[in-house]
Amino acid sequence: MKYNHFSVLEEEVLSYVDDTKPSIVLDATLGLGGHTLSILNNKKSVSNVYCIDQDKNSILIAKERLEKYSEKIKFINDNFKNVNSHIHEKVDYIIADLGVSTYQIMNMDRGFSFNSQNRLDMRMDRSQVLDAYQVVNSYSVNRLSEILRDYGEEKNHYKIANQICRYRERKDIFSCKELSDLVSASSPGGGRLNSSTRTFMALRIEVNNELECLKEFLNKSIEILNSGGKLIIISFHSLEDRIVKNFMKHCEKNCVCETTKLICDCKKKSTLKILTKKPIRPSQKEILVNPNSRSAKLRVGAII
Ligand SMILES: C[S@@+](CC[C@H](N)C(=O)[O-])C[C@H]1O[C@@H](n2cnc3c(N)ncnc32)[C@H](O)[C@@H]1O
Repeated sequence: MKYNHFSVLEEEVLSYVDDTKPSIVLDATLGLGGHTLSILNNKKSVSNVYCIDQDKNSILIAKERLEKYSEKIKFINDNFKNVNSHIHEKVDYIIADLGVSTYQIMNMDRGFSFNSQNRLDMRMDRSQVLDAYQVVNSYSVNRLSEILRDYGEEKNHYKIANQICRYRERKDIFSCKELSDLVSASSPGGGRLNSSTRTFMALRIEVNNELECLKEFLNKSIEILNSGGKLIIISFHSLEDRIVKNFMKHCEKNCVCETTKLICDCKKKSTLKILTKKPIRPSQKEILVNPNSRSAKLRVGAII
C-alpha cells in the first residue's frame, strides 16, 4: 500500500547528520519511517538504525517502506522510555519526532479523531489497558478538569469536565464524535481551532502518559549518546517543547547552585551544548505542503 507521507522538518533534521564518518542512529519515534528513510537515502555512512515505536501497526507499515534497508535496521516495539533495555551500545544520533502521527489520527478506529464514530481510544500502544473511554467515563470531575487545564491549557476546563460528568449520569460517552459534540455544545470556541482540540489533546496526553515518558526518555537518551553525538527533538505543543528546552538548558549548565551561594559545590558538569539557540520552525513552503507541520519546533543539542 502507498502512503502519502510527509516527515516534518526533514531537510533540517538531515542537516544535523554528518555523512563523513560511520554512525549509528536511534529513531525513537519511527512512525511510518519517514525520517529513517530520508536518513538512509541521503547519508550513506549511517551503518545502523535502531527504530522504536510503541505502535505495532506503524512498525509493520514502516518495515515495508524500509525493506531495502532491512539489514541496517533493528525494529523495537516498545515505549521509548525503556530505551536502555534494548540498546546496549552508544549511538551517534537520537531523533524523536514526538506525539501521534497523521496515520494514527486519520485511522478512524484508533479513536483519536473528532469525527470518529468509534470508541474513544487514543492509545498509541494498543496493548495498554487505559484508553480514553475509561478516562472520560470514570475519572472524577476534579481530575478531568485538572487534565483539561494542565494538558490542554483549556480555559473552560471545569465547565467541560462538569458537562462530561452530567452526561455520564444518563449514559457512557462512547465515541469521539459524541464527546466532540458535547464539548462544542459546552464550549463553542471560535478562532481557527476546533472547540474540541484542547480537550482531545489533553486526553491523549493523559492516556499515553506522554509528558512523563518524554522526561524519562530524555534522561536516558543522554547516557546512550557518544561524545559529540546529537539529540534531535521535534515537538508539537508548548508542554512538550518546554520539557525539551528545560532539559537541554539543565544539561548545558555547569552549576546548579542557588544564586545566593558564593562558592559552587554542586559538582554539576555541563553534558550538552545547545546547537539551536532558538527552535527551528518549518518554512512557509513546508507549512503550505503539510499544514500539520505548522506547530513543529526542532531543538538540537550535542554531547560534550
Ligand atoms: C509524529 S510520529 C513520527 C513520524 C516519523 N518521524 C515519520 O517521519 O514517519 C510519532 C510516532 O511516535 C510514536 N510514539 C510517540 N510516543 C512514543 C513513545 N513514548 N514510545 C514509543 N513510540 C512513541 C507514535 O506511536 C508515532 O508512531
